[in-house]
Amino acid sequence: MEKLALLGGKPAKTNPFPAWPQYDQKEEQALMEVLHSRIWWRTPGTKTLQFEQEFAAYQQTRYGIACTNGTAALEIVMATLGIGLGDEVIVPDFTFVATAGAVLFAGAMPVFVDVDPETYCIDVNQIEAAITPRTRAVIAVHVAGHPADIDRLQEICRIHNLFLIEDCAHAHGSEWKGRRVGSFGVAGTFSFQASKLMTAGEGGIVVTNNEDLAVRIRSVHDCGRMPGRWFYAHYMYGSNYRLSEWQGAVLLQQLSRLDEQAAIRTRNAAFLNRELAKIEGIRPQKLDERVTRHGQYCYIFHYDRRAFAGLSTEKFIEALNAEGIPTQASYPPLHQLDVFTNGEFRRRLLPEHAACAPDFAKASYPVSQDAAENTIWLVHRTLLGTEEDAAEIAEAVRKIQRHAKELL
Ligand SMILES: Cc1ncc(COP(=O)(O)O)c(C=O)c1O
Repeated sequence: MEKLALLGGKPAKTNPFPAWPQYDQKEEQALMEVLHSRIWWRTPGTKTLQFEQEFAAYQQTRYGIACTNGTAALEIVMATLGIGLGDEVIVPDFTFVATAGAVLFAGAMPVFVDVDPETYCIDVNQIEAAITPRTRAVIAVHVAGHPADIDRLQEICRIHNLFLIEDCAHAHGSEWKGRRVGSFGVAGTFSFQASKLMTAGEGGIVVTNNEDLAVRIRSVHDCGRMPGRWFYAHYMYGSNYRLSEWQGAVLLQQLSRLDEQAAIRTRNAAFLNRELAKIEGIRPQKLDERVTRHGQYCYIFHYDRRAFAGLSTEKFIEALNAEGIPTQASYPPLHQLDVFTNGEFRRRLLPEHAACAPDFAKASYPVSQDAAENTIWLVHRTLLGTEEDAAEIAEAVRKIQRHAKELL
């Protein structure tokens, strides 16, 4: 008789999903080349430089400046745009802490806006109400690889004279109306941390189409230097955000795998969209028809416990994991992070700005709250297998539904 894996039964998933990260002798060879070249450092190197050019072109942008990680990429953009003390930047409430952390690091206030209940990207209908005379920029996050509503974001930023910054940490290769993300805003930032769609363990990049900005971004990422000038001449504020040659070499190879992997993920995600939508209480992240390529950093679906005998989301996830389907945690709403509720964030701001900042313990962002509590995030390697693998995911969900009562 069928039994839930959590209760000692046989898991729905019979063989493991593909491992992540993926590599072969191409990465090995690239690393050995760097080793033997004795050029392990970005400045005289060629690998990171080549990667910057190839990745920028891949995202249909003119310039790429690789850096230590995706958080650093956002910090660099803040510093380059001169966003700092007294300024405000609009960010979605449902994202990784770095999106807001980079704003705080600059001494500016992140102003949270709730997210769309179907895509979980920033709710463009709520942005204008959050704009004040201090607002300088909007950071849009392309959640799980689904682009935010670029059309509306561009319009709002144009009308209110704000910078649009794209946090593309999840969205390598994602497209809006046939064009790649990172190319719409003044700058786009990416992460190559271990869980991302391409990785060197850590890493990041800023892409832009603006030549003047690219020069300044490069300077900020390299201690305020200017290319071609004396090594100890420092022209502006900058820090050391350089990526090593090891990482550049690995990322070049990872980039060469991306299109093939993306095609597999897209096919399996389309299968899951069809299959999971048939299950009562399961609602896959909506695919806006203007999205021509969803990066599928994760596969997100909304879970309604009422269709699962009231089984809590935590218990559902536990049961799913036991069935052999790996997930990663959904984000907590940013405004509920300790740094915001305990007032610690105020220490980064001008005193007069800190004094008028909201009391986040009393704030309410209902959609972000619901997404935090009731969305399930399947890790992207679950989409890298065959259609049978994807079918086993849907079967695991159906199996838990059939037996939900037994877990109460
Ligand atoms: C939306 C988002 N922005 C920024 C980052 C920061 O990237 P990193 O971990 O490379 O610093 C992440 C990383 O997880 C992210 O998910």
